[in-house]
Amino acid sequence: MSEAIIQANELSKAYTKGGRQMFALRRATFSIQQGEFVAIMGPSGSGKSTLLYTLGCLVRLTGGQCWLAGRDITRLSERELAQVRNRYIGFVFQSFQLLPTLSALRNVELPSLYSQQARHARRERAQQLLERVGLAERMGHRPTELSGGEAQRVAIARALMNDPPLILADEPTGNLDSANGASVMALLDELHAEGRTVIIVTHDPEIAHRHANRILYIRDGVLE
Ligand SMILES: Nc1ncnc2c1ncn2[C@@H]1O[C@H](COP(=O)(O)OP(=O)(O)O)[C@@H](O)[C@H]1O
Ligand SMILES: [Mg+2]
Repeated sequence: MSEAIIQANELSKAYTKGGRQMFALRRATFSIQQGEFVAIMGPSGSGKSTLLYTLGCLVRLTGGQCWLAGRDITRLSERELAQVRNRYIGFVFQSFQLLPTLSALRNVELPSLYSQQARHARRERAQQLLERVGLAERMGHRPTELSGGEAQRVAIARALMNDPPLILADEPTGNLDSANGASVMALLDELHAEGRTVIIVTHDPEIAHRHANRILYIRDGVLE
């Protein structure tokens, strides 16, 4: 393994609730090397999603520094953060987060809308990605016409659209039965085998132990 893709130094995220400060994440220090497969585990409400979303530049930290691909994301403007997200990160969510009015193909194309690529090239890449995740026959379907397993595979294809080195997945199998969950995890294994860094949140120890090289445990916002 080579260099760190993430170097996190005392990351904190505080929310104000009823006038009181409450820490969803408290002084988390760790690094993640390129090519690792890391699982984040911990009880419900312990700060797993908060940690993942701060790494993914979806949520702003209130303290600490976080270097992602060599940049301190706590110092970036919203516009720069959007660029970092677009170029470096593919997200997969528990509830898929597909746009309901768009076909699977259009959902997969979305992350490339602001790229310089020609339209036909984007379309072709989206088609190839949907073929890769086994959905060649479902490209024209809307999310409501897909099963949960299919929807999550569309979401994985979408996450790959800009060929990001880092995949972040928040309980990607949480809404799936075990067969569909296994096929989603097999895809994540493939992405890892291609050299991508994969970080998942899961509360399933079997998934964590089977797929991850390393497990980070969090409790009450504190990394153990
Ligand atoms: N947007 C928010 N506003 C206020 N509190 C939040 C917000 N997001 C998360 N929290 C709180 O932060 C804590 C950690 O939440 P979360 O990261 O979602 O935990 P987990 O993913 O481990 O279940 C919880 O107490 C939650 O209520
Ligand atoms: Mg969560």
